[in-house]
Amino acid sequence: MKITALVGSLRKDSYNLQLVKTMQERYKSQFELQIADIRSLPHYDQDDENNAVDAVTSFHKQIAQADGVLIVTPEYNWSIPGVLKNALDWLSRMDRVMQSKPVLTAGVSPFMLGTVRAQLHLREILASPGISARILPPGGNELLINFAGQKFNEVGRLVDETTLSFLDGVVQKYMDLARQS
Ligand code: FNR
Repeated sequence: MKITALVGSLRKDSYNLQLVKTMQERYKSQFELQIADIRSLPHYDQDDENNAVDAVTSFHKQIAQADGVLIVTPEYNWSIPGVLKNALDWLSRMDRVMQSKPVLTAGVSPFMLGTVRAQLHLREILASPGISARILPPGGNELLINFAGQKFNEVGRLVDETTLSFLDGVVQKYMDLARQS
């Protein structure tokens, strides 16, 4: 199974990127996890939709070919970062490759609330008509990793056993959802 990850932080030492790298290694026998290059996408412009640059068309292709999408994002100003919203806006148009796509969302924060506001907002965005992704119901499936400084090690991997075990459970439910395609 092939999963494509969208990471909402562009920072090289991003905790959210570290979570994706942890998942790449931990679940490599279950799925291949590749990270999409959302940094290279231009600002969404409706005038460019029918003549989009290669970065946009190859991004659409990558998502279309994926069995599922993982979105791992920090919270910026109580929402998702603009770079991630821009990527989702591109995906919501033309061939609308997110329709019914199984999506797993997660967020990591160094602070207490673990991106909860961003995740709630992201769920609304994923339900919009241009996207209409399939996501796990919220109760018990919310991957909100707080106090990241205590849960990641010096080489940037999630090592907190309680969090890893919760992650394992949600990932298994997500795999079941993705297989229902
Ligand atoms: C933040 N941060 C933040 N944290 C939070 O809990 N709620 C918020 O609304 C915001 N807003 C915000 C805006 C901007 C522009 C920045 C740069 C940061 C803090 C944020 O959670 C923290 O920097 C994370 O470490 C960012 O994630 P990465 O880059 O480590 O993945």
